[in-house]
Amino acid sequence: MASSHLRKVRSFVRRPGRITKAQQRALATLLPRWGIPYSQSRIDLDEAFGRRAPRVLDIGFGDGEALLTTAANHPGVDYLGVEVHEPGIGHLLVLLEKAGLDNVRIIDRDVVDVLDHMIEDATFDAVNLFFPDPWPKKRHHKRRLVQPEFVAAVARVLVDGGLFHVATDWADYAEHTREVLARCPDFGAVPAGELGGDPLSFRPPTKFERRGLRLDHVIDDQYYRVRSAAPSASTRSP
Ligand SMILES: C[S@@+](CC[C@H](N)C(=O)[O-])C[C@H]1O[C@@H](n2cnc3c(N)ncnc32)[C@H](O)[C@@H]1O
Repeated sequence: MASSHLRKVRSFVRRPGRITKAQQRALATLLPRWGIPYSQSRIDLDEAFGRRAPRVLDIGFGDGEALLTTAANHPGVDYLGVEVHEPGIGHLLVLLEKAGLDNVRIIDRDVVDVLDHMIEDATFDAVNLFFPDPWPKKRHHKRRLVQPEFVAAVARVLVDGGLFHVATDWADYAEHTREVLARCPDFGAVPAGELGGDPLSFRPPTKFERRGLRLDHVIDDQYYRVRSAAPSASTRSP
């Protein structure tokens, strides 16, 4: 059964945040250009981007400034950003229009639903989860995005050898992430020094990273690669 049917706990709370007129206009007029509507069926990302290029999923891009910088620096890579915070989506749309970038698409929806319903297996070369909401109180830990079912869903949509990059400024969330990923047989941890300048591991400073640094938090970047599937008995050479 798809995990969203089981999942009653969301990793976010929708708060009626302030949205500017420019962001409202962007949602109305630019989302049809850069957005992909949520659907309950698998989507064709080659068609959505109009080409076949390496692809990265950015989960919870916030105000989108880091995603814009990354996409502008890597025009040969396509980025799918998934976010639920509409002022942030509007902000990114304004930036995309100004920059005239065509290698970003946006889905306005809980990423758990998007992974369950819209994304084919082995779709992305990398998945970024930068500064997920920390939910520091113990009674809220169940709201954290990093959970065994969630990382299994991330592994499913990554290609063999695909990169999962998690960054956080919360020591307890970093520890939690290590524990969950250590128990996931699909992933192996990769030391930062072994990335060899992989452009897909690029992460510019983000708004929430700056906030963490102001609070004297330590920034923790973790990298994992999907382990290659072992050859099945029928394909193994004698
Ligand atoms: C702490 S902010 C980090 C934003 C950005 N990555 C950064 O580093 O500045 C976390 C973001 O994740 C989004 N988010 C949380 N749960 C989500 C979910 N299930 N699906 C999509 N976005 C989600 C929130 O709306 C929020 O904008």
